Amino acid sequence: DQYTLLRGRILDFHAAPQDETDTEAYRYIEDGAILLAGGKIKATGAFAEIVALAPDASITDHRPNLLMAGFIDTHVHFPQVQVIASWGAQLLDWLNSYTFPEETRFADPAHGAAMAGQFLDLLTCHGTTTAVAYCSVHPASVDAYFTEAAQRNMCMIGGKVMMDRNAPEALTDTPQSSYDDSKALIAKWHGKGRAHYAITPRFAITSTPEQLEIAGALVTEHPDCFVQTHLSENHDEIAYTAELYPDAPDYLGVYENYGLLTPKMLLGHSIHLTSREIDVLAETRAKPVFCPTSNLFLGSGLFDDAGLRGRGIQNAIATDIGAGTSYSMLQTLNEGYKVLQLQNQKLHPLRAFHWITRGNAEVLGLADRIGTLANGSDADIVVLNARATPAMALRMQRAQTLSEELFILQMLGDDRAIEETYVAGVPQKRDHAGARPEAVQ
Ligand code: GUN
Ligand code: FE
Repeated sequence: DQYTLLRGRILDFHAAPQDETDTEAYRYIEDGAILLAGGKIKATGAFAEIVALAPDASITDHRPNLLMAGFIDTHVHFPQVQVIASWGAQLLDWLNSYTFPEETRFADPAHGAAMAGQFLDLLTCHGTTTAVAYCSVHPASVDAYFTEAAQRNMCMIGGKVMMDRNAPEALTDTPQSSYDDSKALIAKWHGKGRAHYAITPRFAITSTPEQLEIAGALVTEHPDCFVQTHLSENHDEIAYTAELYPDAPDYLGVYENYGLLTPKMLLGHSIHLTSREIDVLAETRAKPVFCPTSNLFLGSGLFDDAGLRGRGIQNAIATDIGAGTSYSMLQTLNEGYKVLQLQNQKLHPLRAFHWITRGNAEVLGLADRIGTLANGSDADIVVLNARATPAMALRMQRAQTLSEELFILQMLGDDRAIEETYVAGVPQKRDHAGARPEAVQ
């Protein structure tokens, strides 16, 4: 195998650091190196040690930039790449006015195929190497998504949205067709290369009880698949859910009653929770997902990170494009920091960068492969430049610690701060626009 060595300043996490003195939780190497071969990380350590292991390796010198595990986005909607930045509505109106009409366009497989390439370009240009996506109701959108991911050798998770009511006719399936289509897509994609399938009932409002029941059957039959849906994002949504499911004790109780709650369940938003719902999350180890830019954009509410963590509930963080307003996990942390400030909760920059790498990987149960620079893991790596813009460079002149540099990246950084993104050892970055405009319809 051909060896490649990336030289730079290295930051890697073992656990969530409380602050910079918490050196058990992370390692920082000023003159570090990562040795790659065959899409894997062979060794990470001090440059002098690593270069001695493979004196013939080709060296890419990224100094003075920071090398970190690639970012992980745990909740994003692939068919909403042309919905992002749609004006004026809260959740249910936003879905009906903008999102559902846009998703109907994915009935055309050619449209899905064109958008999948754009979508994955955007992710990698923003430093994201793994995402958990909702595709559209159309199985062809899932094929487009995983086909494009396979071409790039990306570790991607996703699935066909199941929705059989309260949406346009062109966007609904039936309990049986959603079962058959999901089953066929699992057989076709789950475990193929780096692909993982997520069983994806959109949310309680767009599924009949019959469909949630059949989704529960899929979860039982495929315990190694992920499961994803939305939970308690918006007050009108919660009230409508209670009307549609009058026998459920609360919103989470709907999913609980159909056997959907497992440690592999990702629950987007999880903002307005009752104490019973929090107990059920703690018991079932289903995972809430914080979507800060989306929650602010749709006026949905403030996610209680400290409250959930205090109950031992591990949560993930995500963009939720197209209600989210940035593909950047850095900008997601920026808004996340502000959401926590409004609740007098602290987010140390080291914990922030752990969250979008190893923290999200742990929630997915994939921390042995991604979100880490450990020997033997997959070579998904991001190269960060904290002096990428004039404002960042000027502020960096007054920065003295690693934590300050990370906070500058988090508050001021976006795709411009992503110097390079490696997926399975291969550099991806094409240009800072991140697009192939000729492919856009
Ligand atoms: N709830 C159901 N569908 C969606 C969606 O596409 N985006 C968001 N933010 N919430 C949802
Ligand atoms: Fe969402």
